[in-house]
Amino acid sequence: MNPAIPLEFDFQPRTRIVFGGGTVERLGELVRHNGGTRVLLVTDPGIVAAGHSARAEKSLTAAGLEFTHFDRVVENPTTEVVEDCVDTARREKIDFLVGLGGGSSMDAAKGCNFLLTNGGRMEDYWGVGKATKPMLPLIAIPTTAGTGSECQSFALITHPKTHVKMACGDVKAAARVAILDPELTLTQPAAVAAATGMDALSHAVETAVTTRRSPVSSMLSREAFRLCSRSLRRVLDEPGNVAARADVLLGAALAGLAIENSMLGAAHATANPLTARFGIVHGHAIGIMLPAVVRFNARSPEVAAIYHQLALQSGLLDDCGSNGSAGGEQIARFLSAYRKKAGLPGSLSGFNVTQGDLEELATDASKQWTGSFNPRPLAVSDFISLYRTVLDNGNGANE
Ligand SMILES: [Fe+2]
Repeated sequence: MNPAIPLEFDFQPRTRIVFGGGTVERLGELVRHNGGTRVLLVTDPGIVAAGHSARAEKSLTAAGLEFTHFDRVVENPTTEVVEDCVDTARREKIDFLVGLGGGSSMDAAKGCNFLLTNGGRMEDYWGVGKATKPMLPLIAIPTTAGTGSECQSFALITHPKTHVKMACGDVKAAARVAILDPELTLTQPAAVAAATGMDALSHAVETAVTTRRSPVSSMLSREAFRLCSRSLRRVLDEPGNVAARADVLLGAALAGLAIENSMLGAAHATANPLTARFGIVHGHAIGIMLPAVVRFNARSPEVAAIYHQLALQSGLLDDCGSNGSAGGEQIARFLSAYRKKAGLPGSLSGFNVTQGDLEELATDASKQWTGSFNPRPLAVSDFISLYRTVLDNGNGANE
C-alpha cells in the first residue's frame, strides 16, 4: 500500500432505508417492487400481540400478496428456532422474507434465508461469505431501536448447547429494504428500550475507533452517536415522544451500517462471553463493559482525539477550556450516567461472577473475532484487568 494513502475502503450500501411515521404501511408496495409474491413474515408473539404484524399483513393484503407468518422467534434465537422457521418457509414455498421485530426476528429471518437457499446447517455459515447460491430478498422492519440488524449482513444465531452466538455474515443476507417506522418502537417495554439503547450507543462508540474505520463509517458513527446521545434520555423520560424515538431508531440503524463497514471492538468481545456463560442480557453486558473499554482505549492519543471530537460534536463537551483529550472520560461518564438513569446494571455484582471466573472469561474474550478490530490490541491479561474493573462497583471505578 502506498504509505501516502493511510487507508483503503470499499463502501457499498446494500440496504435501501425507508424512514418515517406510518412507513410500515408501504410494506406491500416494497415487497412487490422487489419481486415478491409469497411472503413469510418472521416475528415473535409479542409483536403479534402489539398489533404490528396485523398492520404489516394488512399492507401485504392490500398489495394482493400471499403470505404466512412464523411467530415463534425467541430472544437470542437458536439454530433450532431457525430450522423450525425453515420448515414453515419450505412448506409454504415462499419467495420473499420479512423480518419484523427486534434483532432476534431479523436475525432469525436472515438465518432462515441461509438454510432455505443454500442448505446445510447454520454452523456452515459461521464467518463471512460462506453462502455460494443466491438468497431470497428480505425486508427488515425493526420494532426496537438498538441492534441495527436491519442494516447489516450478519445473522447472530445462538448454538443451543454452547450458547455461543455465531455471527453468520454474507452480503447476500443483507436486507434489500429497511423500513424504519418510529411508531412501531413506541410499544417497546421500557426495560427493552433502555438495554437496546445502550447497545446502539455502544455500536456508535465502538465503530468510531476500530482499526477498520473509514471516513464514511466515521461519519455514520458520529451521526449515530449524536442522535442517540441527544434523545435516549428523552425516550426514558417521555416514552410517547415520537421525535425522540425517531432519533434513536435512525441512530441505531446508522450505527448498524457503521458496524457493517467498521466492525466492533473490545466491549463486544468482553460482553459476549458474559452472555454465553452467565446469561447476561447483551445490552446489560455491553453497558457494564463499555465505559471501562472507552477508558482503556483512550490511553491511545489517536483514539483519545477521536473520542474528543465525538464528545464535542455531540455537545457532551464544550470547546472552551477542554484540553483535547478530555472527550474519552466525558463519553465514559455520559455512558455511566445513561446506564444509571436507565436502571441498567453497573457492575458484575449480582451475576455470580467471581474473581475465579475472570481468566476463563478473558480467554473467551481474546478469541472473539470482534475484538480483533479494537484500536488497542488486548492480551488476555488486559481482558482480565477490564473484567476486574467491573467485578463490583464498590470502589466506583466504573462510574
Ligand atoms: Fe451490540
